Amino acid sequence: MHSGLSLTLLSVAILTVPIPAQPVPETFTLTVPDGLISSQSGSSVSLLCQVSPIFNIKPFEVQWYRSDDVNKPTLLYMDHKIQEALMDPRFRGRVSLTGGLERGNASLRLERVTLEDSGEFVCYIASNKWYEKAHVVLAVSGDSKGFTVTQVLLVVLPVFLVIIICALCFIVFKRKGFKCSSLHTSRKHTGAENTVQMSTKQTASDEEDNLKDWLLGKRFRAEHITMDKETASTAISVTHHGKRVNYIKAKDTVDHQSYHVLGNKGFDSGQHYWKVKVNEYANKEKLAWYLGVTRENAKCPLT
Ligand SMILES: *[C@@H]1O[C@H](CO)[C@@H](O)[C@H](O)[C@H]1NC(C)=O
Repeated sequence: MHSGLSLTLLSVAILTVPIPAQPVPETFTLTVPDGLISSQSGSSVSLLCQVSPIFNIKPFEVQWYRSDDVNKPTLLYMDHKIQEALMDPRFRGRVSLTGGLERGNASLRLERVTLEDSGEFVCYIASNKWYEKAHVVLAVSGDSKGFTVTQVLLVVLPVFLVIIICALCFIVFKRKGFKCSSLHTSRKHTGAENTVQMSTKQTASDEEDNLKDWLLGKRFRAEHITMDKETASTAISVTHHGKRVNYIKAKDTVDHQSYHVLGNKGFDSGQHYWKVKVNEYANKEKLAWYLGVTRENAKCPLT
């Protein structure tokens, strides 16, 4: 009973005795990870560096530098503080010691990693009696190896739209093709009224039958063309809803000049026909009428 109590007292005494600070060893080693430390551009990374045995390295000098740039440390800790002014400006504001120097942890925390940060870093720790250094290699890769769905859509959608728009434009322009088919009249002699009539009614004449035979078996489309008043020369009158065209001797008309009127319809493909009836009048003044097609860009009225 008595010995048990003294044992309890002893154990309490041991627990309350303050743990003495670890003595600073004469020498130490550094532990760093083997192999590459990989990181993605834009993220943060820790380059681990730990002293062994564990002891407080706050009074020591801790330096991180790139092995290819010894003169400008990435991070310099000296006289109990980080010496910003002596550090490489490329790392300023991006580096810190986060592991706890009092626990012998000299790990470097690097924020907003860039591709240029890749390379070999040296962890260097020195007391006035001893120093040690170790190498850590950092490999930074681009921030996105594959394309995200959004990126793909952003590239593919505009291309797709452009293709569709081009296709539509192509179709529309092809449709328009040649727009103004024209009835083109050329007046060779001065004379009385003369009429060109766009025939829509079937008249049982021999010519009509011949035409029918000729058209038989051919994929010609019968067209009902009307004349566009707006395109008529001053010596041309357009009546009967564009179905009839007369030559009128206007005051300002000049002899040996051509007068024109354009049709309302145009085609861009296929074979078409339309019938034109030329009426000669009583005085038999001979006029020549020319029929033809123009390109869509023909000036209306023609001059
Ligand atoms: C040292 O600190 C780093 C960064 O905080 C931490 O990731 C690492 O685990 C620490 N090392 C040890 C041995 O405690």
